Amino acid sequence: MELSVTLTKQPKQKPADESKLGFGKIFTDHMFVMDYDPEHGWHNAQIVPYGPLEILPACTSLHYSQSVFEGLKAYRTKTGEIRLFRPTENFKRLNNSNRRLCIPEIDEAFALEALKKLLEIDREWVPKSPGTSLYVRPFVFATEEFLGVHPSSHYKFIIILSPSGAYYASGLNPVGIYVERHYVRAVRGGTGEVKAGANYAISLKAQDEAEKEGYSQVLWLDGVEQKYIEEVGAMNVFFVIGDEIVTPALRGSILPGITRKSAIELLQHWGYQVVERPLAVDELTEAYRDGRLREAFGTGTAAVISPIGKLKIDDLVMELGGGKIGEISQKLYDNLTGIQWGELADPFGWSVKV
Ligand code: PLP
Ligand code: COI
Repeated sequence: MELSVTLTKQPKQKPADESKLGFGKIFTDHMFVMDYDPEHGWHNAQIVPYGPLEILPACTSLHYSQSVFEGLKAYRTKTGEIRLFRPTENFKRLNNSNRRLCIPEIDEAFALEALKKLLEIDREWVPKSPGTSLYVRPFVFATEEFLGVHPSSHYKFIIILSPSGAYYASGLNPVGIYVERHYVRAVRGGTGEVKAGANYAISLKAQDEAEKEGYSQVLWLDGVEQKYIEEVGAMNVFFVIGDEIVTPALRGSILPGITRKSAIELLQHWGYQVVERPLAVDELTEAYRDGRLREAFGTGTAAVISPIGKLKIDDLVMELGGGKIGEISQKLYDNLTGIQWGELADPFGWSVKV
């Protein structure tokens, strides 16, 4: 497919102080846009200046949330190369989300080529400071002008880029989370295992209440029995219990995180025993009470490896790691980011040059 490029005539000022980037607040000069209609399929692939879109008030995704997204990062290495981390996994997952939401699949190889081209154009926007990266946000949404509830006939696929620092204001300092007993995020058979925008809309109320109580996010339980640990709002979770590293098994309502998968592969490569299984909240309480719960951390593209320092389950507030990042979390963080930033050997071939 042809990819047309129109460069901006008004380049924006790049952030002067990379220590103040935060997450997802600043956008680069260009974006990738592609359209879908039944007659042409996916077509009209363009890189254009980042700017407003024209959509109609009856645009179906505004009403019924037929929209999905992805998140990955581009890193600048010490030698000035720009690298992506496992990008094919993201486009594969985007198509999984597309299928679940009745959105026509995109050509994954073409999407990656388009992203690389966009990154070449905006490469000066990839920040240089340690701990920073260019967050890549591909997303697809329905654009048909129609109020009936049915799959849209028209869509847009867009990729935008955002120079970012740490997702949590606390950086690598441990975050506090609590087990959510009232609200649920996803049920088996629902959309929890795909990256549908609607999953995040559903989670906002609980997230808001958690923040008011001084917690970063909530730890979701399964929506069926409300008995098993699932994941946190923007990350998968791992618990070091005795000699095992346990992460909830993917049973249809948890997002199959690419960082989760990478963490499992790295831990197994080092000889740790990683177990993917249902993890009951009561088991976690018990493990804490008898001293076997040694460490907890979340994994995600935005969150990277985030140590969990405080975990509240009902009236029990568990303090983990004495305010510091645990040994396994630190080892994972160092190795994962080392591969991502091109500073360590990449035995798995995860890092892809742009
Ligand atoms: N779970 C949820 C709900 C998320 O939004 C994310 C972030 O993408 C993750 C887990 C982690 O997934 P990944 O490691 O692919 O970024
Ligand atoms: C990511 O880590 O890429 C995410 O999508 C999390 C996000 C909801 C900020």
